[in-house]
Formats: sequence, structure tokens, C-alpha cells
Amino acid sequence: DFPFIHYQDDTLFIDNASTKTLAQTYGTPLYVYSKNALLANYRAYVESFAPLSDVKICYAVKSNSNLAVLATLAHAGAGFDIVSSGELARVLKAGGQADKVVYSGVGKTKSDIATALNAGVGCFNVEAVSEIELISQVASELGKTAPIALRINPDVDAKTHPYISTGLKDNKFGISHDNALDAYRFASSLPNLDIIGIDCHIGSQLTDTQPFVDALDKVIEMIDELFAQGISLRHVDLGGGLGVRYTDETPASVSEYANALLPKLLDLQEKYGLGLHLEPGRNISANAGVLLTNVDVLKPTEHKNFAIVDASMCELMRPALYGSVMAVIPADLTATTTPQVWDIVGSVCESSDFLAKNRTLALNVGDTLAITGAGAYGFVMASNYNTRPRPAEIMCDDGSHRVVRERESLDDLWRGESV
Ligand code: LLP
Repeated sequence: DFPFIHYQDDTLFIDNASTKTLAQTYGTPLYVYSKNALLANYRAYVESFAPLSDVKICYAVKSNSNLAVLATLAHAGAGFDIVSSGELARVLKAGGQADKVVYSGVGKTKSDIATALNAGVGCFNVEAVSEIELISQVASELGKTAPIALRINPDVDAKTHPYISTGLKDNKFGISHDNALDAYRFASSLPNLDIIGIDCHIGSQLTDTQPFVDALDKVIEMIDELFAQGISLRHVDLGGGLGVRYTDETPASVSEYANALLPKLLDLQEKYGLGLHLEPGRNISANAGVLLTNVDVLKPTEHKNFAIVDASMCELMRPALYGSVMAVIPADLTATTTPQVWDIVGSVCESSDFLAKNRTLALNVGDTLAITGAGAYGFVMASNYNTRPRPAEIMCDDGSHRVVRERESLDDLWRGESV
């Protein structure tokens, strides 16, 4: 699962760059990405869905929005799934095409909508009936036509962590399956809207294909009903959500995911000429990145051994927020101590500030560790809590490496403040 991360002569390499050299050159904590892993992960989608004639792979910007990451994917032909005006600005800054952007998100404001219309985004994924009205109003004011898809909440259980499950009745996302038909009728009665699609996104880090198939079945029922009523669409958007392997998960591969969906999607293409949009984030970026961190203090106690490292919940929030289990591996395998069981923790004043628990590792102060799978929902969720500057980000490309975001300075931290 980590084809661009391997050991060579006992040293961990990412995209053929030595993590030891990277840690020494740029300091730690440090986010490091592999350009070739990003491209391979993106291409897996393009290739697996190639049997369809009209597919847009819209990378979910929220999973890793570094400009160099976006530029890499834009250059490869990707579209983008965004959830804010800020993400739209990043996509445009990185050279992405507005017409390949789908704009999701539950709280779009008038100004967000106007900005996106002026930029010419490809589709608004509409999450509420009131939003249909608002988009129509803003589009009329600007003399534009807004392309829209309605995000349907199919009420299927994605069987993932409750915080990242989005397709259940209880969740705030989308328009309920029961109200969807009325919502489409309402949309077709309003001016300056072009109804082009139907959308759903049921959750994140799904390892099984069945919930996706269940959601697609619900969406197909809706599509049949809509066409029968004279409301025609041009695409179906199945969101993102395919999981990755962090430690011992066995997620479906992209091609297994595609094979589970393709028969039904080919039917939709045949019957209605529908194209496909997908919004993968984690599956493209997670395993294209690691977080490097150095061991600062070793603190064995009677109950637990703590390894205090220079990364923390501020730099990587997933373990603290979701109890996520992420792999921690040494940058250098030449151990000079006996392995022991450690909790890998940061130095932030919170007991939830842990990165990993009960890991058997041979540790010395000064060692560099790599947390894998950190390319998604890593840096983007970092905070400055405890007045910690956010780490630098590095992009590696077959042995070469460059800074794609500088480490924050103290001046960065109080920019805009006054005494
Ligand atoms: N589309 C929509 C509308 C979304 O809300 C999301 C993610 C995606 C696409 C991309 O999902 P992905 O392919 O990355 O699973 N911070 C959490 C994950 C939150 C996901 C939110 N929505 C984590 O660290 O696990």
C-alpha cells in the first residue's frame, strides 16, 4: 500500500528521498509528500473508471490543500471538490480549472455563491432547499446560470467512525431521500438554474464497497423517477470516501471499488447518457505523505513508557480527535537499544495529545520517526495551539525535494495581533 515508501540500507525513503536527510535538512516536525504517489493514486481512478466515457475525478481539496499538491493534480488533469471560497482560491492559484470544480458544503453564503459563479465553477452540490433558492437569486442578480446537483442523503450506514459518517438521516448533510423529488421540482421552477446532476457522499474511510453500492442503488431509484418526470440530468456524483490502509485495515482497492460500481454506472450511461463525478480525497493523498518527528524525551514510568516527540496533536490531530490508529515507523532501522512498548506523545498540555499508543519500538533520544498515512487530513487540520508554529511541507519527486511551505515563524504566529 505504500509503494513510494520503502527501506533501503536500513533507511526509510519516500519517493527516493532519504527521510534521515530530509529531517536533518529541514528540521522536524516535517510533512513530506511524494509527487509520484499522488500521481499514481490519481491515475488509479482514471484507469479504473476508463470504461465510462465521461468521468471527472474531483480531488477533495480538504484532505490536503497545499498548492504544490493541487498543482500536481491539476497538471495531471484532475478536477477538484471544494467546500469553501478559500479552497476555490487555492485551486485557482494552483492552476486548476474552475469548470472542473464541484462546490460542496452545507453553509454556502451569498458571497461564496457569487464568488463561485463569477469564477465559473462546474457544479454546485446543493445541500438544502433554501440553498436552491439562494443560488437562483444570486445567479439572477449576476445574470448568470448556475449549474447545480442536489446532494441526496441516501440514509445508508457507511460503517465508519461516527464523526466522519455523513449519509445517515441523523447527519446534517444533504437533502433527505424523501424530500429529494420535491426539491428537484422546486429547483426546476426557479430561474437561472441548470439542473445537471445528482450527488451523494456517505462518509469517509470506508473499507467495504457495499455501502457505496447501496447508496448508488438509492440514487438510481431517484434518477429513474426524475427522468420519468421530465427532469433530466447529465451526471451522477458519488462523492469520495474510499478508505486506505493505516495499519491493518484491508480496504477495497480502487479497481475493486470501480468494479463494484461500473455495471450500474455503465447502465446509467447507456440509458440516460449520464457521466460520473467522484470526489476522492484521502485515497489520493493519505499514503502519499508522512509526518517526520524526532524523539525529544524518553520517560519510562512504572505503568507506561512515554516517548515525547516534537510533533503533537497540533500537527496531527487524527489520533486525538478520532482515536485513529496510524503507523509509526523508524527512519533508521539500525536499532541500538532493545525494543520496548511506548506511547508516542506530544508535549501539548492535554492528555488527548497522543500520536500512537502501545507501540513496540527501539527508541533513543534524537531518533527520527515517520507517521505514515499523514498526507491526508494532516497538515490541513493542524493548529497553533500552545503557540506552536505549523511544520514545513516538502515535496519529493524521485529523489529530489523542495520546500512547498515554509515552517511558520513566530512572526507568522502573531501576524495581525496587536498589544
Ligand atoms: N466529498 C465530500 C462532500 C466530503 O465531505 C468529503 C470528506 C470528501 C468528498 C472526501 O472524502 P475522502 O475521500 O477523503 O474520504 N478529517 C477526517 C475526514 C473528514 C472527511 C470529510 N469529508 C479524518 O481525518 O479522517
